[in-house]
Amino acid sequence: MRPLSRRAALQLGGAGLLSVLVGGAGLTWQLTSGPGASIAGGGERLAEPATLRSADGLLEVELTAARGSVPVAGRQATVLAYSGGLPGPTLRLRPGDVLRVRLVNELAEPTNLHVHGLVVSPRAPGDDVFVSVGPGETYDYEYHLPDDHPPGVYWYHPHVHHAVADQVFGGLYGAILVEEPEPLPVSRERVLVVSDITLDAAGRVAGVSAADRMAGREGELVLVDGALRPALTARPGERERWRIVNACTSRYLRLRLDGQRLDLLGVDSGRFASPREIEEFVLAPGNRADLLVTAAEGTSTLEAGAVDRGGMAGMGGMGAPGTGAAAGTLLTFDVSGSPVLELPALPAQPSPRDLRTATPDRARRVAFGMGMGGGMGGGMGGMSFVIDGRTFDPARTDQVVAAGAVEEWTITNATPMNHPLHLHVWPMQVVARDGRPVDGVEWQDVVDVPARGEVTVRIAFDRHTGRTVYHCHILDHEDLGMMGVIEVA
Ligand code: C2O
Ligand code: CU
Ligand code: CU
Repeated sequence: MRPLSRRAALQLGGAGLLSVLVGGAGLTWQLTSGPGASIAGGGERLAEPATLRSADGLLEVELTAARGSVPVAGRQATVLAYSGGLPGPTLRLRPGDVLRVRLVNELAEPTNLHVHGLVVSPRAPGDDVFVSVGPGETYDYEYHLPDDHPPGVYWYHPHVHHAVADQVFGGLYGAILVEEPEPLPVSRERVLVVSDITLDAAGRVAGVSAADRMAGREGELVLVDGALRPALTARPGERERWRIVNACTSRYLRLRLDGQRLDLLGVDSGRFASPREIEEFVLAPGNRADLLVTAAEGTSTLEAGAVDRGGMAGMGGMGAPGTGAAAGTLLTFDVSGSPVLELPALPAQPSPRDLRTATPDRARRVAFGMGMGGGMGGGMGGMSFVIDGRTFDPARTDQVVAAGAVEEWTITNATPMNHPLHLHVWPMQVVARDGRPVDGVEWQDVVDVPARGEVTVRIAFDRHTGRTVYHCHILDHEDLGMMGVIEVA
């Protein structure tokens, strides 16, 4: 095994761990291996992933998925990582850009790449999740962002069926930002990728039981940019922009930062009509928040509280061990020093599209279900995780949608657990929860459907055609088959 460099040391131009190859019209960034650097134990400083920006409309990146050794929570851990980073590098793009990613698979098993939330074609060599890249193989992805691509917080991770949860839990994820034409006036931008992992006594990623898979595993360590409880500092009056990615395999995050003013710009690619002042918000697995934090003197902690996401108790006596427990303090935010007095005014948010006034071309119902039998090799206690009564079959097309249609989907969940629905390529506007209309405009690409509840969304199937998937973003459930195929033609 070769040592992976810790991304903490990969400040651009620093430490010589990052090699930059200039070729053609763009840049190729390659994170190369090097000695392990600063250890991120509890209370250590935050070290964000390296940022790679597009230039002249193009970003070319090489991502090597490999097993390697990085410091996690004060000791050496054997994880999976993209180009040695836990998380992988942050990719910064603009609408209209082309993103080329050469994925190099140095794992011992197949993998692939999904750009979660990007409004790009699902056809190869774009965001085609049916592609499988074998061990030792390389695949060249190319994504064309439309000129009207929504600015927002996105991320990338593997999507090979049956292996998604293990590979994400192992460490394969990174953030993607699509910028506004004019950056918001803030003192500081931060990208906070929250992930969870469990390490065994030897520092290897712990295996999971069948019961944990069915419940949706929750790692013992909840990391922010690969660090355990990092410390952030600011001055009073500073306005920071935090982009928070919930890259946890199955864990929900109920977040608060008491003592600080929080204004949520939107979730996923969505933008509210105007920022919403909030005290707490919940990110289902896969969701992202775009948050303004206006710093007030004192020390605050970002806390992840308990989330009731249901469980399997009552279903054939299967318990759901420990789901939804509070993760506690994710980071500390120390605000001191001389106050910043001027806060530049924020520009008005562009008014979001609102499909509530549209007349849908068609209504559909999509039902999450769980039943006895099937699933874990049909053994004792096996449970099936289905959508519309079926587990995933890549050869079957479950929904055929006319290109350009606006549809209303009612997603029902008769099970005793929450399931967050994720649809690739086409964002969803939440219009009702349990039949009650939603106030305001809420666009998301992961929509939590509570146990025994239902959510109604509207979707405009425009910009792209092709075949892709929708699934539960509790990645263990996705791997167990809670996924369907959609074709837009
Ligand atoms: Cu974040 Cu289909 O995935
Ligand atoms: Cu996705
Ligand atoms: Cu689920």
